[in-house]
Amino acid sequence: DTEAAVLGLESSCDETAAAVLRADGTILAEAVLSQEKEHSPYGGVVPEIAARAHLEHLPRLVAQVMEKAGLEFSQLAGIAATSGPGLIGGLIVGSTLGKGIALAHGLPFVAVNHLEAHALTATLPGVVETPVRFPYLLLLLSGGHCQCVAVEGVGRYRRLGTTLDDAVGEAFDKAAKLLGLPWPGGPALERLAKAGNPARIPLPRPLLGRPGCDFSWSGLKTAVAHAVARCPGGAPSDQDKADIAAAFQAAVAAVLADRAKHALAMLPEATAMVVAGGVAANQAVRGALSAAAAKRGLPLVAPPIRLCTDNAVMVAWAGVERLRLGLTDELGHAPRPRWPL
Ligand code: KG4
Ligand code: ZN
Repeated sequence: DTEAAVLGLESSCDETAAAVLRADGTILAEAVLSQEKEHSPYGGVVPEIAARAHLEHLPRLVAQVMEKAGLEFSQLAGIAATSGPGLIGGLIVGSTLGKGIALAHGLPFVAVNHLEAHALTATLPGVVETPVRFPYLLLLLSGGHCQCVAVEGVGRYRRLGTTLDDAVGEAFDKAAKLLGLPWPGGPALERLAKAGNPARIPLPRPLLGRPGCDFSWSGLKTAVAHAVARCPGGAPSDQDKADIAAAFQAAVAAVLADRAKHALAMLPEATAMVVAGGVAANQAVRGALSAAAAKRGLPLVAPPIRLCTDNAVMVAWAGVERLRLGLTDELGHAPRPRWPL
């Protein structure tokens, strides 16, 4: 039934989001509230503050999207809530609200894996120009995740590689902090890098050329710290900062392209390279990845940035796909802070 609609809830990190999506992929309503202001004084996401903010805002966002969609709860085909991986406080808020609505209205409940939601976004009709077909390579590049995943079908995922230490967005944020930029530092670092020379202060490119497609970013972060300390008086000039930012970004882009190349070799049937996560907004990263994909004759597919970062449309879509397969969950389903694909 393509008319049937699913309510999706997202609260696993620092975005509070709700969306109503029709089974044919039509977005009836969506709302996202970023908690950036709440967390930026602390230079990162504070779990307790995040949980309280989700609790304060999520019920109102749900009411808002339901009104915009013009639907009563009882008219929905189901409720899908991110139930892991993520910060447990937020997961409890979102999944409990979802189960409550499901119970009150006799609706099926779907406990969605946040990574699956990111993985399937590119298959949402109308989201990308040419719809992607299975199997494809997903590069999940966010503040919390850094993985290469073979997406072979709904519910059929193989993790090809992951980070041995930090997520790539976390690496951007830490490098940005060392350069005196506010959190979250990725976008600010990209802006600063535009004025920089990436070749003046070369930085290491961890795991480049090594077999497999794992990642490691902590050594690069340490190298940024050393580069900053080596500036006269340990105080980099504006040009020093821009040069370090440019070198950092070039190193990340080169490593990502190399890892992606290895991942594609592990998935010879891939029809596309798909990116998701906030780091997918970075133009240098996109350029390097699209060149790596082109070498294999494949397109780089990037959903619009609002659907690359955390949102509830992707959660509702994963819900639609799972409901189609009859994959619903008990109301006793416990949220899972760690939940590999
Ligand atoms: O996917 P996302 O919004 O949230 C989760 O982590 O789930 O990703 C946020 C991350 C942050 O680390 C942020 O600094 C990074 O994505 N980011 C960027 C850019 N925009 C966001 N990193 C590099 N360049 C950007 N333009
Ligand atoms: Zn995410």
